[in-house]
Amino acid sequence: MKKIIIANMKMNFTREKTKKYLKELLTLTKDSEHQIVVCLPFTSLSVANQMLFGKDIFIGAQNVHQEESGAYTGEVSAEMLKELDCEYVIVGHSERRQYFGEENKTINSKIKTLMKYGIKPILCIGETKQQRRAGKTQQVLSKQLETAFSGLYENELGSIVVAYEPIWAIGTGVSATSKEALEAIKYIRSVIKQNYSEEISKQINIVYGGSVKPDNAKTYLTHKQINGGLIGGASLNAKTFANIVKEA
Ligand code: PGA
Repeated sequence: MKKIIIANMKMNFTREKTKKYLKELLTLTKDSEHQIVVCLPFTSLSVANQMLFGKDIFIGAQNVHQEESGAYTGEVSAEMLKELDCEYVIVGHSERRQYFGEENKTINSKIKTLMKYGIKPILCIGETKQQRRAGKTQQVLSKQLETAFSGLYENELGSIVVAYEPIWAIGTGVSATSKEALEAIKYIRSVIKQNYSEEISKQINIVYGGSVKPDNAKTYLTHKQINGGLIGGASLNAKTFANIVKEA
């Protein structure tokens, strides 16, 4: 089954490093049947655009501003990303929620703006350890999901990728068990079913992220309900990332 395997480079890679990385990754994943996406820093997008033209690796960005243009010093618009052939943009990553105060409502506006430009949002949702311990995982997930999807029509959901990323698993080396990941993903599907339809709840792509490595990738990536993975730390090395892709 074709999976979506997304690399999140975060604040790593100069243009030079990006070039080397993509060259290696292109060779290593040449025969892959999966959809591979690399979410790069803004400054690396143009070099990726040159190198990946006509290739099977898709370009993603890690953020976008919700407004289409205007006096927003330091921000990047959806139109600018579209011009560089960005197919995907991550929105609502827990690091942006935590360090930059990104809220569900803003995330909803970002999703709508991306859709206007035909860019696919990768929406990250997930609970903290405390929320999980307090039995609030489902409550947190449904709130994040429902606010982010507010005002969207069913026929728009097909282009969204939802990434279930428990915050306690991001960059910690402590990944969710496949049972925990699956439970959360099934719950996310049930919320979508309740708000939209059974059909779209089955169709929508939901991936798992949080300390995915080559040695645990198989548990997530071979499951029918899990459509792929979002990989941070382990994606920074082209070989390691390609090995994760091979596990799918
Ligand atoms: P990680 O990061 O793989 O390093 O845990 C995942 C993410 O932040 O998307």
